[in-house]
Amino acid sequence: MHEFKFRDGELYCEDVPIQRIATEVGTPAYVYSRTTLRDHYRGLEEAFSDLPHLICYSIKANSNLAVLSTLAAEGAGADIVSGGELYRALSVGIPAAKIVYAGIGKTEDEMAYALNSRILMFNAESTTELGVLDRVAGEVGVKASIALRVNPDVDAQTHPYIATGLKEAKFGIGIDDAMAVYEYAASLPNVEVVGVHQHIGSQITQVAPFRESLSIVGELVKRLQAKGIAIRYINIGGGFGIPYRQEKVPYPRDYARELEPILRQSGCTVILEIGRMIVGNAGILLTKVLYRKSTGDKGFLVVDAAMNDLIRPSLYGSFHEIAPVMSEERERETVDVVGPVCESGDFLARDRELPRTEPGELLAVMSAGAYAFTMSSNYNSRRRAAEVMVDGDRFGVVRKRETYDDLVRGEIAWD
Ligand code: LLP
Repeated sequence: MHEFKFRDGELYCEDVPIQRIATEVGTPAYVYSRTTLRDHYRGLEEAFSDLPHLICYSIKANSNLAVLSTLAAEGAGADIVSGGELYRALSVGIPAAKIVYAGIGKTEDEMAYALNSRILMFNAESTTELGVLDRVAGEVGVKASIALRVNPDVDAQTHPYIATGLKEAKFGIGIDDAMAVYEYAASLPNVEVVGVHQHIGSQITQVAPFRESLSIVGELVKRLQAKGIAIRYINIGGGFGIPYRQEKVPYPRDYARELEPILRQSGCTVILEIGRMIVGNAGILLTKVLYRKSTGDKGFLVVDAAMNDLIRPSLYGSFHEIAPVMSEERERETVDVVGPVCESGDFLARDRELPRTEPGELLAVMSAGAYAFTMSSNYNSRRRAAEVMVDGDRFGVVRKRETYDDLVRGEIAWD
């Protein structure tokens, strides 16, 4: 469900015509729907309401402060992966006691920052990291609460770049080593073991891989408890998939229904680190057709957004629906939708059948709320796009389009 809908042949976000945003803000621009964000968050909250739980929004999916403040107001916690994400979370008032910190390469500075902020816990990913965390915690004088990220070796059946739960992945601690690493963690003076964490991948479109991995994790929790290592939190990670082309995917309640028995039995508080399911379909990338061209038999639409704005099609071969903002009847054609960047890999869609559009017309690239702006870059010295938030009949720029000055900020023409 989302709030990008056609009314009388014109695309709206909530009660704002997309065309108006383009006129006032220009293109390319990301447009987010605050109502959709809230609805998605509340859907998850409701689905898991029968269990003690905490939803930690995964900031890497979309870290704009307006997105974060919207979710903070709903009571969300945060899943962070860097000092920068911690800074963002704290600056919109997400309580430190609702922040969990994952990642295989936390630096000592980042550890100290998180300890001093009194975050809920670190999701530790290796024995060496634990050793460093113990020392830093001793220096800072704050005990580090931790979960170990275990790798249950299940196939999440998603794109190989975003599957993380197989044993060849760089993430987590192999399930067979977990017991020993837990014992080591429990022996450290400045570390307190509080939980177990898994994250098996992203854009997972079935419940089964979660069921499989959680039954493995559930067994581990029992064994730990038998050894006197009290586990209070099970963090099931993120990864709930969304429809990119109207395919059927499980709803939050489907996950809750199927996973509840295992989770309830553990007696633990459940943490969910959801990114994409909250923001993915709450955003679009708005772009303008610059030129039409053809080479040989192939037709191209050259648009003003590029791989530097949205890299998912180039990097993962991801599909994003594309629709003209004005939807009147027109002939259809098959084209590649490409950006101005000097790379053949710069495309938003390939061999896509679309209604014929002319230079100057607007296109909406759908499902662009997650891993879109956050993965953007300045490649080709392109200024990053503006971001806009819509709420009912209001909208506001929540990140200004970069200027040429922004582009060179911090650089020195050294001689
Ligand atoms: N927790 C951890 C430890 C993660 O690494 C991630 C995502 C999440 C939670 C949130 O997963 P989600 O609910 O959003 O699926 N750039 C890729 C996705 C990379 C996901 C990285 N980790 C894409 O555009 O599809």
